[in-house]
Amino acid sequence: MSKCKVGMWMYKNGGGEIIQNEIVHQLQERDIAVVSDLNLTNARATNGRIICRGTAMEELDAFFSYNAGKQTQYQMYLYQTLNEAIPCLNNFTSFALTEDKFRTSHKLNQAGVTTAEYRMLRRGDKKGLKKTLKDWGDRLIYKPTDGWGGMGIVKIENERALDMLFPFLEQTNIPYFYVEKYINYDMTDYRIDIVDGQYVGCYGRQAPKDSWKTNITSGGSIILREPSDEAIAIAINAAAITGLEIAGVDLIYDLEREQYIVLEINGIPAFATPEQQQLGLAFNQLKINKIVDLITRVAQG
Ligand SMILES: Nc1ncnc2c1ncn2[C@@H]1O[C@H](COP(=O)(O)OP(=O)(O)O)[C@@H](O)[C@H]1O
Ligand SMILES: [Mg+2]
Repeated sequence: MSKCKVGMWMYKNGGGEIIQNEIVHQLQERDIAVVSDLNLTNARATNGRIICRGTAMEELDAFFSYNAGKQTQYQMYLYQTLNEAIPCLNNFTSFALTEDKFRTSHKLNQAGVTTAEYRMLRRGDKKGLKKTLKDWGDRLIYKPTDGWGGMGIVKIENERALDMLFPFLEQTNIPYFYVEKYINYDMTDYRIDIVDGQYVGCYGRQAPKDSWKTNITSGGSIILREPSDEAIAIAINAAAITGLEIAGVDLIYDLEREQYIVLEINGIPAFATPEQQQLGLAFNQLKINKIVDLITRVAQG
């Protein structure tokens, strides 16, 4: 068997470069060659081949795509195309699914996993939106389906606020309204990391005093927490339903229904930064090991 060769593209900020070096090192020890920095933004495709910085992508045995920055449409397009030819981690289909909050919630619900109640409405369906607000007892959240960092998510607590939102929504060119019922929770969440169907680690985030969003970019802070077996089982199941090989599953505990709900699933869950490691987040090594095992298996498969 000829020597395996894998490509990768990984984020470098927040300690990412150290993680990347460790992954490359471990793969090389297994006699797997690694070409890094294969950002598909810099690739061109012609004659049945995608060429990225001199590398013929289709000749790789696997491609590990792990850059959390916003991907361009071009990048996603080539990722999708490449996924038809070689194994990609995450696989493109599941990655694209989890980039969309509506499609993810919908799929999870069909499989019996509890999420926030949601509704997808046609753009401009004011009547539907007003009825939803009423049905949900004035607790509605408008969410962009492809947002991140809590951005663009707004809470609507009465009809007047909704009336004020319409002109804004009409200025955008979104084709639909995706809304969720506001969950009454303790303002903390769980981020549960799953690799290859196995539990890797967990931490939580706490919303700042003046906000109900736990995102770090919305001022949230990291908390150490141990997940219950139930929470882990929910995360493993949810990851499996999406098909993600590597997943960060976000849960919150619904105080009214008295159960965990899956809030969203991230296809490029960040490793703990050096600062977070100092706080006690200790899952990086296990996560690296499991990702290396996964890449090895997929590349040699
Ligand atoms: N239905 C909801 N009920 C209550 N809080 C929510 C709900 N949806 C989101 N949030 C809060 O908003 C934050 C951001 O929402 P999320 O769906 O995770 O989008 P993003 O991709 O921007 O992180 C969550 O971490 C949570 O704190
Ligand atoms: Mg989130």
